[in-house]
Amino acid sequence: MPPAPSVFLPGLFDGQVALITGGGSGIGRGIADLLAALGAHVVLASRKIERVETAAEEIRAAGGKASGIAVDVREQELVKQMVADVAHTHGRIDLLVNNAAGNFYAPSESLSANAWKSVLEIDLYGTFFCAQAVLPVMRAQGGGSIVNISMTLHYRGWPLMAHATAAKAGIDAITRTLALEWARDKVRMNAVAPGPVPTEGVRKAFTPPPSADGVPDVFAVEKAMESYAQKMIPLQRWGSPADIANMVAFLASPAGAWITGAIMVVDGGEWLAKPQSCR
Ligand code: HXC
Ligand code: NAP
Repeated sequence: MPPAPSVFLPGLFDGQVALITGGGSGIGRGIADLLAALGAHVVLASRKIERVETAAEEIRAAGGKASGIAVDVREQELVKQMVADVAHTHGRIDLLVNNAAGNFYAPSESLSANAWKSVLEIDLYGTFFCAQAVLPVMRAQGGGSIVNISMTLHYRGWPLMAHATAAKAGIDAITRTLALEWARDKVRMNAVAPGPVPTEGVRKAFTPPPSADGVPDVFAVEKAMESYAQKMIPLQRWGSPADIANMVAFLASPAGAWITGAIMVVDGGEWLAKPQSCR
């Protein structure tokens, strides 16, 4: 677990409980590390229980408070049960981070109904189900904060990602709408739109098909990624999970107390600079 960046007060989230979907890997894990370093008890939720339990164990070993719980965010009843379990165990949920997502590059013309449904259900339905389930808990405790992890690819369109861009555009829409509906309950809803962060999921997208011997050319991947950062990202580096986590912590902190319905882009300037693609 990295030391808490000096911009955040040590113990900022002491006594608070943060539920992070997809918290066992990539960006979700980075968010969990930072919130735990700042004193929150982080509950990591995803389908693979061993993944979230291992991550929680590592956070505890580093001195944080963490636990793992299994859920498939596509299943509304499982989401309700998860939220009830977390509320029962901890008595409160101060922050929900809707970070779980499924995504892959695929030509739209051949996308099966099930492929479309899988991504829409994980990203958009999952975000809605989790938010809806935590609302009564947050209302009863006098308020709370929800942060949805979106993206920027739908701002201009992104070939081979019709499913994910549609889902994330929907997430942006509910971020604004639920912010208005739930403000009276002192529940704030915001979103963070990350630029490219080289998690395992993204690295897969940059990996060319295996060569004749069946082994992907890792040097080609590294070269493609370095070249992408130099040419396509104005701040000339890829993002890190910590870059995204810093924005989540800011929004969840008292510094974000008057921010709701906002979608904060954290991308090194990438989407503004990106040339229109029509491949
Ligand atoms: C076409 C595909 C496909 C692919 C899956 N499908 N992969 N179609 N191209 N590459 C189809 C399957 O054939 C199936 O349809 C349907 O999708 C469901 O697939 P399953 O494997 O049965 O689903 P499931 O096990 O539920 O897994 C869901 C998943 C998977 C979304 C398909 O990829 C997943 O679990 N992803 C989670 C991790 C992840 O994606 N992380 C990346 C986040 S990164 P049929 O019709 O055959 O039944 C991110 C960054 C974006 O979002 C920014 C990039 C710069
Ligand atoms: P990742 O490591 O693949 O994380 C996805 C997480 O979602 C995994 O931990 C996975 O855990 C969980 N998940 C997937 N399906 C689920 C389901 N049905 N129910 C519960 N959990 C599920 O990818 P990442 O790159 O860190 O992405 C995190 C978030 O950032 C996503 O919302 C993504 O769209 C967004 N984002 C990422 C980038 C980027 O460049 N990395 C850019 C823009 C936006 P299990 O497999 O255990 O379920």
